[in-house]
Amino acid sequence: DAETWAECMDVAVRTALIAGQMVRGSVMQEKRVSSKSTPTDLVTEVDQQVEEVIISTLRDKFPSHRFIGEESSAAGEKCVLTDNPTWIIDPIDGTCNFVHSFPMVAVSIGFAVKKQLEFGVIYHCFDGTLYTGRRGHGAFCNGVRLHVSEEKDVSKALILTEIGAKRDPHTLDIFVGNMKQLLSTPVHGVRIIGSSTLALCQVATGAAEAYYQYGLHCWDIAAAALIITEAGGCVIDTTGGPLDLMSRRVVAAGSREIADYIVQQLKPISYGRDDED
Ligand code: IPD
Repeated sequence: DAETWAECMDVAVRTALIAGQMVRGSVMQEKRVSSKSTPTDLVTEVDQQVEEVIISTLRDKFPSHRFIGEESSAAGEKCVLTDNPTWIIDPIDGTCNFVHSFPMVAVSIGFAVKKQLEFGVIYHCFDGTLYTGRRGHGAFCNGVRLHVSEEKDVSKALILTEIGAKRDPHTLDIFVGNMKQLLSTPVHGVRIIGSSTLALCQVATGAAEAYYQYGLHCWDIAAAALIITEAGGCVIDTTGGPLDLMSRRVVAAGSREIADYIVQQLKPISYGRDDED
């Protein structure tokens, strides 16, 4: 029930802080980097170690729960969301940033029950900012209540996106075309910071009006989607329908008007689904 989930959330916060400290402590050390699905889809030993610590801490406390983690999935574990209480974990979001010590790196922990998100915790490892949201209880940044931007006019919007791992010419043409379409609207600006979760948190704080991406994963969206919704924003599929956590695509915005505008402009990039091989 709701109170049990509140206890889970306390554990999530404590675990994210410990994980964030591990990430921060490894930044200046030499990193062993390898690639996963494509040469630009990076992983380090730290990603794997941090995920291991997060999952073993949580599994100890909640042995009957299920876990979806970025690096466990890369190692072949099934990425399927069931009705069971499920933790959705990204140990280092912004691995490429981490590799370069570019200070936009986060730990993201989301939690869903009956396929509904109950809370999300995102910890910015470099500056120590903690974003949290619990269903029906609001979203917070270091304990201060968050509200999305109320802007409805897309020509006054600052929009964030991320590139994704596919870099073939066809994908890049669509990616650049989508960005050109928005830049020529014209919107105020388009930014790429290298971490989907921290970019999505900027929508929750109102620092950006919107975010869109093809090619991210459920562990990049889960915690942030709940935080944005609790901050009063909308998080939808790139087709305009409800968000599908496993669909690898998202549009998030402070207002439905801006989300709808972006949905109309985007040409799709096909990435498959997280829950299919
Ligand atoms: C990735 C980053 C990147 C985004 C990718 C994500 P990771 O997460 O957020 O900016 O473009 O789609 O998967 O691999 O660093 O955890």
